Amino acid sequence: MENEIVMEKVIHKGAEANLVYGHWFGKEVIFKHRIPKGYRIEQIDKMLRTKRTLNEGKALIRVKSYGINVPQVYEIDTKNSTIVMKHIKGQKLKDALKSLTNEQKVNILKNIGKNIAILHKNGHIHGDITTSNIILTNTEEIFIIDFGLHDYSDYIEDKSTDLHLFKRVLISSHGNDFCLCYEAFLEGYRNGYEPENIKECKEIIKNIKTIETRGRYVKKEDRI
Ligand SMILES: Nc1ncnc2c1ncn2[C@@H]1O[C@H](COP(=O)(O)OP(=O)(O)OP(=O)(O)O)[C@@H](O)[C@H]1O
Ligand SMILES: [Mg+2]
Repeated sequence: MENEIVMEKVIHKGAEANLVYGHWFGKEVIFKHRIPKGYRIEQIDKMLRTKRTLNEGKALIRVKSYGINVPQVYEIDTKNSTIVMKHIKGQKLKDALKSLTNEQKVNILKNIGKNIAILHKNGHIHGDITTSNIILTNTEEIFIIDFGLHDYSDYIEDKSTDLHLFKRVLISSHGNDFCLCYEAFLEGYRNGYEPENIKECKEIIKNIKTIETRGRYVKKEDRI
């Protein structure tokens, strides 16, 4: 029984991957399996799936080493373009947020901010920070998942863009809690920086406004 790989239940069908719950050598796991896309030339499709599986698996392993709560990766199976990772018991923050107390919301959002600051300080961009890509456990731990759009960058602009996406998600999906959550998130983010690099942190936050101004006043076709 211990030596088995058992895929039990598809829990999510994403744009690129199927997420399957199951067991891997006695452990409860999620298999993130990037599925073939019929519209791509077969060799290119295989190459893309291998590359993206490797990128995401490596990113998860690297960021975990900085102390960020991400699911532990057990195996990167490039042949089947599958990442085998620890199954995190909990709820998507998107679904959990509304039933939390304000105090819980503040603590959780601060914690998320701190984790994103650690990511950014180490040159990692998550690429898709949303409340669907954060799992909240019943002990109020948070896990950041879905590094499918992860990239490496030390540009202020890329870090601000990462934060700006999260801001927009808070507005659109959690409008009633937006101020409370966004303030707590930024506070956690600032606290994740040390005095010697707080200047960069301030620039990143300030640049969110610049991005918003561009979005509103520059015609879409004029944007670069
Ligand atoms: N390690 C995990 N433990 C528990 N649930 C997970 C885990 N990884 C993913 N999930 C669940 O599967 C969902 C989809 O995962 P993920 O966001 O990584 O896939 P995706 O293909 O990028 O999906 P989408 O395209 O919808 O963003 C998550 O929202 C979460 O509910
Ligand atoms: Mg996702």
